[in-house]
Amino acid sequence: MKRTMVVMGALLLTAGAVMAEDQLKETQTVMKANGKNAGALSAMVKGEKPYDQATVDAALAQFDETAKKLPTLFPVSLKGKTFDGDYQTTEKIWSDKAGFDEHITSFAKAVGDAKGKIKDMDTLKTSLGVIGKQCGGCHETYRMKKT
Ligand code: HEC
Repeated sequence: MKRTMVVMGALLLTAGAVMAEDQLKETQTVMKANGKNAGALSAMVKGEKPYDQATVDAALAQFDETAKKLPTLFPVSLKGKTFDGDYQTTEKIWSDKAGFDEHITSFAKAVGDAKGKIKDMDTLKTSLGVIGKQCGGCHETYRMKKT
């Protein structure tokens, strides 16, 4: 009986660790996709790429997905975890959870407002400016460059 409980405890611990690793991967995958899409849109705004509605719509759909996922992307199990990109979380995500949640809400609103409104270069410029400010606003406090 005792042995079974010890074994089960060990299994639970392992499962917990695996879940944190999976979450870390998922969170990074989502943020990398954001970066890729934001990059594709800003290349259009800069005139490096021609305007392409399909790229715009795909980017917006992915940002929308991000907005929905954000509330679960940074569980407390990720606190202190090392990300493999150039960036890292700050512990404020958890110590200032209310502030972090506000950023999620305002990001979701910016994305929601832009959906279906981007039709050409002008509307893209405006919406990307609004959305980009939201990305940057959250990063300023809750993301840091790895040292
Ligand atoms: C509510 C907060 C929040 C919002 C909104 C947000 N991010 Fe992030 N982002 C983070 C945090 C925290 C990290 C650090 C953890 C990581 O690297 O995944 C991060 C990391 C990143 C990274 C680095 C990924 C890597 O590991 O290489 C990129 C690129 C990025 N975000 C792009 C974006 C873009 C573009 C947007 C807007 C479309 C956005 N983010 C919106 C919080 C946010």
